[in-house]
Amino acid sequence: MPALVLIGAQWGDEGKGKATDQLGGAVDYVVKFNGGNNAGHTVVVGGETYALHLLPSGILSPGCTPVIANGVVVDLGVLFHEIEGLEARGVDTSRLVLSSDAHVIASYNRQLDKVTERFLGSRKIGTTGRGIGPTYADKMNRVGVRVQDLFDEKILRQKVEGALEVKNQVLVKVYNRRAIAVDEVVEELLGYVDRVRPMMADTALLLNQALDQGKTVLLEGGQATLLDVDHGTYPFVTSSSATAGGACTGSGIGPTRVDKVIAVIKAYTTRVGEGPFPTELLDEDGERLRAHGHEYGTTTGRPRRCGWYDAVIARYAARVNGVTDFVLTKLDVLTGWEKIPVCVAYEVDGVRYDEMPMTQTAFHHAKPVYEMFDGWTEDITGARRFEELPKNAQLYIRALEEMSGAPFSSVGIGPDREQTLELRPLLP
Ligand code: IMP
Repeated sequence: MPALVLIGAQWGDEGKGKATDQLGGAVDYVVKFNGGNNAGHTVVVGGETYALHLLPSGILSPGCTPVIANGVVVDLGVLFHEIEGLEARGVDTSRLVLSSDAHVIASYNRQLDKVTERFLGSRKIGTTGRGIGPTYADKMNRVGVRVQDLFDEKILRQKVEGALEVKNQVLVKVYNRRAIAVDEVVEELLGYVDRVRPMMADTALLLNQALDQGKTVLLEGGQATLLDVDHGTYPFVTSSSATAGGACTGSGIGPTRVDKVIAVIKAYTTRVGEGPFPTELLDEDGERLRAHGHEYGTTTGRPRRCGWYDAVIARYAARVNGVTDFVLTKLDVLTGWEKIPVCVAYEVDGVRYDEMPMTQTAFHHAKPVYEMFDGWTEDITGARRFEELPKNAQLYIRALEEMSGAPFSSVGIGPDREQTLELRPLLP
C-alpha cells in the first residue's frame, strides 16, 4: 500500500488535521516530517476539540502509529507536556515513535528566536518564537543537538559547549542578555532521557519496512507551501521544507515510493506573521472572514490575516508539489456573501501574471485580478452530498477546481468529521 503526502497549499492553517483525521482509519502510520511546535492543528473528534502543536494528528486515531521523523525539530518539554495532556483525557500515546536523528530545540534557541525578532523591529519575520529558525540554522551549521545525543552525555556536553561558546557572545554582547550556563542546558536535556528511550527509533528504516509490508504511510507536512524555505515567500517563511519534496528528505522515504500528493486548501486565504499577501482584506470583509472562520492562531492566538481565494497560489502549489488531489476546506465560511471574488491572476506594474511572479519584489507589488462569483445564503453545514449544495456553491467549487491545476477530492463544510463532501476517493 501507498505512501501519501499531505501538505498545505497556502500559508498554513488550511485544516490539515481534519484531512488527516478523515483518512484516519485507513492509515497505519502518520508521520510529521518538518517543523516543530510552531504548527497547530485543531482536530474535532466526537465533539471533543484537540489542539496539537507537535504531535502528529494520527495520535488520535487508534491503531495508527504516530511518527516524529528526522526532519522535525523537537522541543522535548512541549512533547511531554502534550503527551501528558492527551493521557489525562484518556488518549493512548504509547505508540508514538521519535527519530534518533531529529534535532532538539534547546532553551538557548528559544531565547534567540525571541530576542532576534525583537531586535529586528519592523523587519521582523513574525515567527512563533518557539526556537524553530535558530534550531534549523544550527542543523545546517552542523552544530545542532540531535535526539540520539541525549544518550551520550560526553558528546551532548561537547555540542552544547560548542554552541554556547558563540551564542553566549551574541546573547550578551549583541542583545544585552545574560549568558546561558552549559550545565543548565545539559541537565534539562538529560532529564528527558528515560522518557525518550522507549520511543526513539530509526524511523526511516521503520517506515520503509512498513511500506514493504504493504502498510499505508501518511506524511503530514507542517506549515505550508508558501512558508517553505525554498518555495515560499522568502524571507517570510519558516525554516524547513514544507513542500512535498521535504516529505522525502524529512522522513527517509524515497520519491519513487510516494503515490499521492494531497494538498489542503482553504476556500479563502489566511496568513499569520509578516510578508506579502496579494488578496489580503483590510476591511469589513476581512473581519467577517476572520470571525466566521475563527481565524486565530492555534499556537500563538494571533488573529490571522484573511483574504479571498487566490488561484495563482493554488496553481503554484499544484506545480511545486506535484499535487494529485486538492482537499478544499471551510467552504461554509463563505456563506452569506452576495458576490465572492476569486483572484485569477496578478497585475504587476501594468503587466498581467497568470503564474507566480519570478521575484519577491514583483510578488510584493502584485495586485489581484478578480473574477466575481455569485454567492449563496443557505446554511450548507448539513449537506452530505455535493448535489445537496446550493447551485452557486457548486459552481464556485467547480470554478476553483478548473483554475487550480489539480482535481478536488473533497470539500469541507464544517469542523466535524461528517461535514466533508467526497467528490472522489482520496485513497488509491
Ligand atoms: P517560525 O516557523 O516560528 O520560524 O515562523 C516563521 C513564519 O511561519 C511566521 O510567519 C509564522 O507565523 C509562520 N508559521 C509557522 N508555523 C505556522 C503554522 O503552523 N501555520 C501558519 N503559519 C505558521
